[in-house]
Amino acid sequence: MIELEVPGDKSITHRALILSALAEGESRILGALVSEDTRSTAAALRALGVSISELDPDESRVSGVGLHGLTPPAGPLDCGNSGTTARLLAGVLAGCPFASVLDGDVSLRSRPMERVTAPLGLMGARCESLEGPGRLPLRIHGGALAPIDHRSAVASAQVKSALLLAGMVGGAWVLAAEPRRSRDHTERMLGAAGVPLIEHWHEGAWRVELRDPPDRLVARTWHVPGDFSAAAFWLAWGVLRPAGPPLRIRNVGLNPTRTGLLAVLARMGARVEVAAAADLDGETRGDLLVWPSELEATEVGADEVPAVIDELPLVAVLGARARGVTRVRGAQELRVKESDRIRAVVDNLRAVGAEARELPDGFEVSGGTGPLAGRVETRHDHRIAMAFGVLGALPGAALEIDDPAVAAVSYPAFFTTLERLRRDGWGASAGSRRPVVTIDGPAGSGKSTTAREVARRLGFRHLDSGALYRALTWALLRSGWELSTWERRTAAELEGLGVAARPGPSGVEVLQGSEPIPDADLRSPLVTAHVSAVAGLPAVRSVLLRLQRDAAAGGGLVADGRDMGTVVFPQADVKVFFTADLEERARRRLRERGSEPGDAHAVQVEASLIRDRDFADAHRELSPLRAAPDAHRIDTSALDFAAQVEAVLALVRRLTP
Ligand code: S3P
Repeated sequence: MIELEVPGDKSITHRALILSALAEGESRILGALVSEDTRSTAAALRALGVSISELDPDESRVSGVGLHGLTPPAGPLDCGNSGTTARLLAGVLAGCPFASVLDGDVSLRSRPMERVTAPLGLMGARCESLEGPGRLPLRIHGGALAPIDHRSAVASAQVKSALLLAGMVGGAWVLAAEPRRSRDHTERMLGAAGVPLIEHWHEGAWRVELRDPPDRLVARTWHVPGDFSAAAFWLAWGVLRPAGPPLRIRNVGLNPTRTGLLAVLARMGARVEVAAAADLDGETRGDLLVWPSELEATEVGADEVPAVIDELPLVAVLGARARGVTRVRGAQELRVKESDRIRAVVDNLRAVGAEARELPDGFEVSGGTGPLAGRVETRHDHRIAMAFGVLGALPGAALEIDDPAVAAVSYPAFFTTLERLRRDGWGASAGSRRPVVTIDGPAGSGKSTTAREVARRLGFRHLDSGALYRALTWALLRSGWELSTWERRTAAELEGLGVAARPGPSGVEVLQGSEPIPDADLRSPLVTAHVSAVAGLPAVRSVLLRLQRDAAAGGGLVADGRDMGTVVFPQADVKVFFTADLEERARRRLRERGSEPGDAHAVQVEASLIRDRDFADAHRELSPLRAAPDAHRIDTSALDFAAQVEAVLALVRRLTP
């Protein structure tokens, strides 16, 4: 079991800072997110006369000035990259009797603000866009406000919260309706602070009503749960990694308006369990447990979008590794997030070799298992950086993220944690060592190609032990020694031939001296004709035993051969024994050599060669071919390649307790 905690919830931290600033007296915030976005909110509130301690995840203190105590700022309020800061503060400032300017970085300056300025204008605040219409920088002249009955065209917690905060500060009745239910942290937190709201569906809209704006808010302690949107990256990593111990993410906020990804993951076949603990400040929190899983594609529609809005880049990443086509619709809001996330996700998936297509209001991603490599453009978007960070952390992926530092907007420790998880991926269940997987079986059973692919998918090295026997056979053929003398050669003499194995990043390379032996030489008919007899020689087996065991140092190996599970690695973590019909094996061999397996005569000839090889392998004195008692026997006759690979991966996945 790997355990971790995620930083505090971003949405709740912003709100805790704002509500504490508007309360009377000193509030404490426990578990606050400390990131660029929440620092922007704290800095803006300080500029409005609120004293706030340095943000600290353990405890942050805010000396509230009361609902009417904010003072005019000396200069523009810089919201940085944070849309929540800009929109929620717009609501607060609309109720303040002075003028102030909200500004932000390039990304925030391109995001729409009229969704809040229009209703705030109707309440009586004057909102002026100083550059582009409906964009930051924005000057707000606030004051006492008029009541509003507003129906937003978009489901947005930021719009709803801005209006509720305007009503609180400006003393006005507010009815905020939205077409679908967006996250309700503001409502829950106001409820916890003693300001109940009336909420219900009415005429196809979700209505939230602040009927009696209070005269004052009282200081209190806020307990911020871990951010589900941060945990979501680990949920994705946890299911996508091909195998490894289960992952437990502790103390995560489980507000149902945020946890849409859980339903999406469940439909995709992911194994995720929720251990809910307690409700605090109106928010449920608990632990999430996640296991490596094989994923199926899914569809996400408009109704589901608000509860999964910030996780949709991750849904795309999950889709890229799932079976089938994953489709997201009704998510046009993604176009106005920190980047146009529809375009960013699709362009980047394509850039790394996945298949994806833009839709006006979403995207389509075709899943696959092929290698992913390329450069990811984060476009100043923290969630793009992190979602692709997860994809890039999978075995075999070679992704370069152009600006990983942008993660600091919401999750400064993200990439450090990702590295740690990658490193400790196998920690608790298999000792400090990564597993060794063995696949034994007769000629043509598919063990070698399967082992290579299983190793690639796991990020392990592949040891093709047959290649070592071929290498020694090849070296003997070139040694000048009479064939009849081979069986008398000592281990020392054989070692003198210089056959070596060098562990590389993905496989174990077979060398003579320091030169790799070409594959064509290893597979030549002459070598094929002699390898079985050579493999029966005791000195050969003892020399190669050592080479093979050395190659397994540190684990993380998939070895295929005939005695991997019985003699070479009797302690292997997963042992597989492949079998297949004789004729099917003959057809595979012919196909491997590029011949047409439809020729019945050729199949018969090949089958009889294989039969002889089987007999020799099974009856030789040393290390005869047989399954280890603890091996999983898999008959591959009727399995295609993908199914063979999956059958082995499933066993490795099961290693997790
Ligand atoms: C947020 C609301 C959502 C979300 C954003 C945070 C909030 O935006 O995407 O990351 O804290 O209110 P919208 O309200 O625009 O949907």
